[in-house]
Amino acid sequence: MKFHILTLFPEMVMQGLTTSIIGRAVERGLLEIETVNIRDYSAEKHKKVDDYPYGGGAGMVMQAQPVYDAWKSVVDKIGYRPRTVYLTPQGGVFHQEAAKEFALEKDLILLCGHYEGIDERVLEEITTDYVSIGDYVLTGGELAAMVVADAVSRMVPGVLSNQESGTAESFEGNLLEYPQYSRPREWNGREVPAVLLSGDHAKVDEWRREQSILRTKERRPDLLERADLTEKEKIRFQIGKSEKLF
Ligand code: ADE
Repeated sequence: MKFHILTLFPEMVMQGLTTSIIGRAVERGLLEIETVNIRDYSAEKHKKVDDYPYGGGAGMVMQAQPVYDAWKSVVDKIGYRPRTVYLTPQGGVFHQEAAKEFALEKDLILLCGHYEGIDERVLEEITTDYVSIGDYVLTGGELAAMVVADAVSRMVPGVLSNQESGTAESFEGNLLEYPQYSRPREWNGREVPAVLLSGDHAKVDEWRREQSILRTKERRPDLLERADLTEKEKIRFQIGKSEKLF
């Protein structure tokens, strides 16, 4: 899979995405990450990419032309209009299912804005998905693009080792992951839960499932409403259809 990241700060994005697991996957040819510097596509002699907003107000707006031409350079190269994600706090909030869905694409364009946003007309022309990484405002879309690229990459087959991908993880079935422990058995007066040392795999699985449900109920009651729970579990953990989760 190939990411094409349209940005005014290509070094920032490349630095964040060329280390650790993602860097390894790039070296192994499973992923490609290309940045396109929007400033290189400014038709203006001082390479300006922003201007004052029509109607007044604070800040500057990124102009349509350099954004469009940067996007078009990718389209011309790959020969089709790929899914184009604009990172913005005005988008739908990103989640694991979206990461899995994006991971099916051959090419994905991530468009990072700066200043007070991007001229709406070019967004209408090129954007297929408006994505936010949470209800807060960042100084630009770069960190958000890195978050999305990271979460999508680990869903590309082969990027995680069998060991890494074989384990249950948070958000599978809309439940958070159970707690994990490693050596030593006792640390700072705290013992590893006895069931994990019992060697009884069925018991361990049962305990982990229970912990996942309890943890989700306590920390993310909003997720529980969409969780895959059996009727028995709903009764046992007092999880109703109604809002009364506590
Ligand atoms: N750009 C600025 N804030 C953002 C956010 N929360 N998500 C995605 N892109 C952004």
